[in-house]
Amino acid sequence: MNSLHGQRVLLGISGGIAAYKTPDLVRRLRERGAEVQVVMTPGAKAFVTPLSLQAVSGQEVRSELLDTAAEAAMGHIELARWATKILIAPASADVIARLAVGMANDLLTTLCLATDAPIAIAPAMNRLMWANVATQANMATLRQRGYAVFGPGEGDQACGEVGAGRMLDPLELVDLLVGGSGPQVLAGKNVLITAGPTREPIDPVRYITNRSSGKMGFAVAAAAAAAGAKVTLVAGPVNLPTPAAVTRIDVETAAEMHAATTKAAGDQHIFIASAAVADYRPDSFADSKIKKNDSEMNISLTRNADILADTAKANPALFTVGFAAETNDLEAYARGKLERKGLNMVAGNWVGGGKAFDADDNELLVVWGSGKQVLPNAAKTALAKQLVELIAGRYEATK
Ligand code: CTP
Repeated sequence: MNSLHGQRVLLGISGGIAAYKTPDLVRRLRERGAEVQVVMTPGAKAFVTPLSLQAVSGQEVRSELLDTAAEAAMGHIELARWATKILIAPASADVIARLAVGMANDLLTTLCLATDAPIAIAPAMNRLMWANVATQANMATLRQRGYAVFGPGEGDQACGEVGAGRMLDPLELVDLLVGGSGPQVLAGKNVLITAGPTREPIDPVRYITNRSSGKMGFAVAAAAAAAGAKVTLVAGPVNLPTPAAVTRIDVETAAEMHAATTKAAGDQHIFIASAAVADYRPDSFADSKIKKNDSEMNISLTRNADILADTAKANPALFTVGFAAETNDLEAYARGKLERKGLNMVAGNWVGGGKAFDADDNELLVVWGSGKQVLPNAAKTALAKQLVELIAGRYEATK
């Protein structure tokens, strides 16, 4: 469903520079058919005027808890019941902290306590405020309680710094609100994902690689984040945008992917290895471009370490999921990898004959110790959502 028809969205705006984007956000929400009621914290008014928001929402903006006239029109408890969804954008470090401890010291936080509507927050703040352990602990609390977290994105910040903390754009937030209201099956879980190919350099202009667009792994990362997980995505060289609310670590070679994965794995609950890691690398790297001549050229290759098998072995409590791309005997090969690498689950897909590579759709045969399930051909985004639900179910079953 691509719409918010029939939805009554309570948009909470807290004090942050990203509040200047909220009139556009209100417009986008209404375009999708939502009724929108804006509630501002006092700090938000320093960044955007109530009059602008009243004009675009078509409703008087609420802000005071103890406002006799507004309470007479619709009391705050009634307003909390009216909402079918609450979105707080931008969510400042302050409002996140107040929500985490259950304060009710302004209208917005009071409404969040008094509602049973799902609450989504779009954090926006300076990168160091976002990374601060206090903010991260508050976020973990909110995730645990089932709050959906949209973003933050990475990039240039209003304060002149670069990093994680940007509020997602209004269109991204609306898409997440439409699609992200699915079950939070991975709330409170940390999920590590590898995706894309690796490149093994021969000389400064040549490399060995595998065919992989990274689309499936990125779709799985997006689906896991939408299901409430804190996602770390270790990505080989691909041409794809970072999914919302996902922390991305870019790598090039299998050795770099191995190191980044090993470093992150200790804090994770689930590891999904979707990367098409090059099995071999050239024995040596030529510092300058190798010139051709008339004779044959031989490149001697060394085996790369198996990132998935090594990570599974080093972290026995980690729930590990591998991928198997095969042209034949899919189930037998998938089960072989399950055993050999000591995994909890393997998602097999058929390749060759135009299947899988670069395509936007795919079909999976997922196997685990005692069972299997076919996820029939679907868009990679839809398939990723089903796979994430299957993984979450199997993960719970093993705990
Ligand atoms: N994998 C990995 N590190 C490697 C190689 C593979 O983490 N060095 C992971 C992939 O991300 C994938 C799974 O292992 O999840 C694929 O297993 P693999 O045995 O490498 O597949 P193939 O190379 O297709 O195996 P084979 O040569 O047996 O066909």
